[in-house]
Amino acid sequence: MRKGPHRLRRVVPALLIAMLAGGAADKPAPDDVKRWRQAFTRPNHVPAPAGNSTTIEKVQLGAALFEDTRLSGSGTVSCSGCHQAELSFSDGIDRHPGLDGEPLDRRTPPLWNMAWGLSWFWDGRSASLEAQAAIPIEDKREMGGDLKRAIEALAADPLMRESFAAAFPEDPAVTRDNLMKALAAFERTLVSPQTRFDRWVKGDDEALDQDELAGLSLFAGKAGCVACHQGWRFTDEAFHDIGLHSEDKGRGPILGVKAADHAFKTPSLCERVWSAPYMHDGSLAAFEDVVDHYANGIVDRPTLSADLPRSIELSKTERAQLVAFLNTLSSDDPPRPASLPPRTITWGATVSQKDRRFSPGAILLKAGEALRILNDDTRTHNVRVGWPEHELQLRRPESRRHGDPRLRPVGSLRHHLRHSSRDAPERGRDLSHQSPEHRALRNLIPFWLI
Ligand code: HEC
Ligand code: HEC
Repeated sequence: MRKGPHRLRRVVPALLIAMLAGGAADKPAPDDVKRWRQAFTRPNHVPAPAGNSTTIEKVQLGAALFEDTRLSGSGTVSCSGCHQAELSFSDGIDRHPGLDGEPLDRRTPPLWNMAWGLSWFWDGRSASLEAQAAIPIEDKREMGGDLKRAIEALAADPLMRESFAAAFPEDPAVTRDNLMKALAAFERTLVSPQTRFDRWVKGDDEALDQDELAGLSLFAGKAGCVACHQGWRFTDEAFHDIGLHSEDKGRGPILGVKAADHAFKTPSLCERVWSAPYMHDGSLAAFEDVVDHYANGIVDRPTLSADLPRSIELSKTERAQLVAFLNTLSSDDPPRPASLPPRTITWGATVSQKDRRFSPGAILLKAGEALRILNDDTRTHNVRVGWPEHELQLRRPESRRHGDPRLRPVGSLRHHLRHSSRDAPERGRDLSHQSPEHRALRNLIPFWLI
């Protein structure tokens, strides 16, 4: 339901640009293109700390716990109640109501690409994902839970005992430590899928249109955004005061340093189309408002970040181009991570596609297991199957049985994987030369249609 306004918002800037364009922006210089492509290249490895490697069993357990209301005091609140997959694991509102009915102090942040984080929370007060997970559970206004009681409740459930034993063979018990590790391991699998911008970074010159490229030029140039929104996740993982009206002191009280007052962690910009409103207080409703803020909304105060341009002149067209560029960092539809729990994910073997939508949207396959794709479409298919760095593009010839309304098989994944590694030896090598984490995770295969 939230989709309508979001999609509309993404169309508007394009129209606006078309209306205002007049002088077309120059193409970026080849040197800039080269530099940007290097700066925004994705890593091909999902990091995990030494003490908590990512395994399928842990991820499955963590995904289930993420949905489990037994972690809360009232038995009614789960992590996913606030961190909703379709909204980039945020919740679509400025500040979520706490258990006392009053809005929480800050907005629910999206959870994509947490594996690469260096500190957590808007003010960076948590030093690891493992440590972070305990805080919302015991926070009086978030989940109002008690970890000891939650552990007892989980340990009384034979299925949970089994899942913990499978996830932690060396310490097969329902403990606080294992609970945190499983939640963190699940969160590390939330890697945002590649978008049009990533295709451009990889060398596809056609992936961005002229206005989006002009937006990138502004982002990396005159508008100065890249001073803080750096790298493939578009964050320097540092803390800055960008002059919002909020009274919240942010990083300052954590460090006990006044100069850090009003500073908040630079958010990533990946998949942000789906996580409006923006900022730590949810005070800006849309990308347009964000760009207007940087152009002429900054509150002047001594703590403002040295990296923040104080006065940027941005024409209407340029603002629309910046927004157009920001949109290319998000998928066209809200992406679903493959590691979601059974409500949305099922174990192998059959996926149906109706009206160009797969159901389930993601599926867990055991290595070597074949996947059947059933489908009501007669056109040629490109099925993108992938862990972000290891996508395979599958193409089927036109079906001869036009107009058949029944679902019918259009392919099997095992066939395609074999087929595609013969066609693309490099990709085949990729799949077999992965870190242990990747070897475990390559069984989690998300599906979507392009
Ligand atoms: C009632 C809503 C709510 C619930 C339930 C909730 N969170 Fe959050 N979450 C938030 C808010 C709000 C913040 C930001 C708080 C801050 O920065 O001070 C946050 C921050 C986070 C962060 C930090 C993200 C970042 O970018 O630094 C992570 C990770 C996270 N939550 C995971 C979880 C997990 C795991 C659970 C379940 C155990 C959970 N949350 C339950 C609202 C919620
Ligand atoms: C000085 C560092 C800095 C610069 C320069 C900067 N940003 Fe930010 N950006 C931040 C920080 C910090 C936040 C979060 C602030 C807060 O919530 O208090 C943020 C928030 C955002 C958000 C909201 C993300 C979310 O999920 O809430 C967007 C979008 C954004 N910036 C885009 C831009 C654009 C576009 C530019 C250039 C015009 C830019 N930024 C320049 C540091 C910076």
